Amino acid sequence: MRVVFLQPAYPPEMIEYTRGLKEVGAQVFGVGDTPREALPAKVRPYLDDYLQVPRILDEDDVMDRVSAWMRGKTIDRVLANWEPLVILAARLRERWGVPGMSVDTVRGFRDKQLMKERVQAAGLRVPRSRRVTTESETRAAAEEIGYPLILKPIAGAGSADTYKVTSKSELDAILPKMRGVPEASCEEYIEGEEFTYDTVCIDGKPAYENVAAYLPKPIEMRSIEWISPVIITVRDMKQPKLQGGLALGRGVLSALGMGDGFTHMEWYLTPKGEAVFGEIGCRPGGAHIVDQMNYTNDIDLFREWARVSCFKKFEAKSERKYNVGIVFKRAQGQGRVTRIEGLGDWLRACGESVVEEKLLRPGTPRRNWKQTLLSDGHVIVRHPEWEEAHRMSFHAATGIKMYAE
Ligand SMILES: Nc1ncnc2c1ncn2[C@@H]1O[C@H](COP(=O)(O)OP(=O)(O)OP(=O)(O)O)[C@@H](O)[C@H]1O
Ligand SMILES: [Mg+2]
Repeated sequence: MRVVFLQPAYPPEMIEYTRGLKEVGAQVFGVGDTPREALPAKVRPYLDDYLQVPRILDEDDVMDRVSAWMRGKTIDRVLANWEPLVILAARLRERWGVPGMSVDTVRGFRDKQLMKERVQAAGLRVPRSRRVTTESETRAAAEEIGYPLILKPIAGAGSADTYKVTSKSELDAILPKMRGVPEASCEEYIEGEEFTYDTVCIDGKPAYENVAAYLPKPIEMRSIEWISPVIITVRDMKQPKLQGGLALGRGVLSALGMGDGFTHMEWYLTPKGEAVFGEIGCRPGGAHIVDQMNYTNDIDLFREWARVSCFKKFEAKSERKYNVGIVFKRAQGQGRVTRIEGLGDWLRACGESVVEEKLLRPGTPRRNWKQTLLSDGHVIVRHPEWEEAHRMSFHAATGIKMYAE
């Protein structure tokens, strides 16, 4: 089994997928723009060979270079788990006739408007929306959709350039900020709670499923600095409240023609109990959600993803043991982290339930919280009871304080 894996070392969690591929017995050919000599020592043993390209996002250039590199060799899979590379992987598969999702199928997971059209065509509930490219189109779409509405890039990530707009005058203020965005989606604002629906699929059927609750919803996590974002995986997926979302998620996978691998979907649960589609990617979620799922079941999804992608087999047990909460912290102030308060108390109070503590240490420069949900580090805590996992997560959110002053 010979696998070309796009970017084995960036983002850093890709090292784990590279490990997974090696552990299930694949020969791994990594392609990335990390210089060969800068590849972390951890990833090297998992790579059979590596091609450094000058610009990983320059698709045509990468295609030519990889084709020259692989000339005369047979390749069984071309895989990528980072959103900006999923189309490139599909283009390489098509060029070489390698099995896996086509470019057209992957576009349904990458283009937010197209995905909504395809999901809606299958009779599933999506926010009403319009694709807009100019200010006048945006104004016309806003008239039609009404307020509140959401304006966001078609190829967005990390809630960048995403705005809730509640009136025409707010729209006037926001339009100039969207000038750098070539194509946007103007859509009905969906009130309610927000969840993920994550899977590892074989031929579009989930071999593994997960739901996690966003507390609060991502647009608030990304726009209010003092918030410590909390995400908790839900152990009990049989509860009635989630059934609409699970049915929606499974429907979306078949509507979009999912093949093998990870998916990460976001959905809303309205106050009336309706599940509404948000968005989906044919790749894992970021911000450590795969670690959270691993802690939820005590499994290794990095390796199971590799097994599914290479051999269409999923071998881990799917028993859900814990609700797993991750809490991202943001230091008050600018520059370098200077001190952390309340950590010792929290660690003592939660004891065995704490599975990770990775807050940035004093002396470390703060991360840009607008650019990365990872913020200034995180803690992970787990418990079989939802209330306890929730309580300990919010204890970390309010009780641990970081400063950069
Ligand atoms: N139609 C909508 N109604 C209500 N909230 C929305 C809507 N669209 C987006 N949002 C809010 O904005 C957030 C970001 O939007 P979306 O997930 O589409 O973009 P994104 O930039 O790809 O996000 P990320 O990469 O953080 O998952 C959502 O998680 C949600 O909180
Ligand atoms: Mg999103």
